[in-house]
Amino acid sequence: MKKILQWLGIILGGLAAIILLVIMAAMVNTNDRMNRTYDAPQVTITIPTDKASIEMGEHFATIRGCLSCHGENLGGTLLFDVGPIGTIYSDNLTEGENGVASTYTDAEIARAIRYGVRPDGTSVLVMPSNEMTGISDEELGQLIAFIRSVPPVDTEPVTQRFAPLGRVLVMFNALPSATAEIVDFDTVAPASMPPAVTAEYGEYIAISCIGCHNPAYSGGPLPGAQEGDPLARNLTPGGSLAAWSLEQFKTALRTGATPSGYVLNNEFMPWGIYSEMTDTEVEAIWQFLQSLPAREFGEQ
Ligand code: HEC
Ligand code: HEC
Repeated sequence: MKKILQWLGIILGGLAAIILLVIMAAMVNTNDRMNRTYDAPQVTITIPTDKASIEMGEHFATIRGCLSCHGENLGGTLLFDVGPIGTIYSDNLTEGENGVASTYTDAEIARAIRYGVRPDGTSVLVMPSNEMTGISDEELGQLIAFIRSVPPVDTEPVTQRFAPLGRVLVMFNALPSATAEIVDFDTVAPASMPPAVTAEYGEYIAISCIGCHNPAYSGGPLPGAQEGDPLARNLTPGGSLAAWSLEQFKTALRTGATPSGYVLNNEFMPWGIYSEMTDTEVEAIWQFLQSLPAREFGEQ
């Protein structure tokens, strides 16, 4: 009996030591990655001032999810707050107190959006700039014109925090963190991207889907998913969309209702914002998804 207890003590002690070592390794790994600086290109674009451009900026800020993450008034939101994982806020983007636009120049905002790099060279955290690198100069200008046009919101300063389990997940790249790591600084963004019902334009818009449906559009668990959260579905012809018509796809993006009668959960699949998409945008995304190779669920 005594022997067994001794062995149990050694095993438990060993496990505790291993867990501690993993957490220490994660602290070193993530501190290093979050404090690293990046030599991202400078961005010079013209910011329009006319009403139509500001409205286009608002449209893109809606369908690209800027408003979902940064709040309808762009004042910033608490994005997630899970004890062992951490607490992450999106920034106040307005010209109000502690707002990004109150201290950043247009060029600095543009660089932060496109490359995920702050004026001091460090990477933004969690903000999906990897989905925005290819946004055209014209659209980037419209987005910034919209940001500058909204009423200033005053907020308190916030502190981003990754807790021990969050650090371990970041170390294994199971949680988004320093975005600049996954941005390709050599990407050449188009000057402008006129809307058209083409797979090319569809790909341009559908990049906003990859944070959840993954870069291969084959579906999988959502980043930072909790027990019971739905999985993002396979959007390639290898999934159920193979049997859908364009009309059914439109209905799903506008009302959440799928052909089987199931209504997609807007809390996880934000069709509420996609209901603002124009016909051209939805049809282009459909063309693009249909042009993809049929992949198995989760296949890269
Ligand atoms: C998935 C949520 C999410 C989406 C979608 C999102 N953001 Fe962010 N954004 C964040 C978070 C989180 C931060 C804070 C990053 C930090 O503190 O490092 C941030 C920070 C920023 C910053 C400031 C970067 C800096 O230098 O501190 C800008 C500018 C910005 N976002 C613009 C946008 C625009 C424009 C869009 C839409 C095209 C957008 N964001 C979409 C989450 C998001
Ligand atoms: C924030 C995460 C998220 C984003 C962003 C997102 N989706 Fe989804 N999507 C999901 C989840 C989760 C489901 C499954 C929802 C459920 O089961 O209720 C889903 C389901 C779907 C379905 C239903 C497929 C089926 O087989 O029933 C379609 C279609 C779809 N998404 C299209 C898109 C498109 C197109 C975009 C980008 C324009 C997009 N999604 C962006 C998370 C997301």
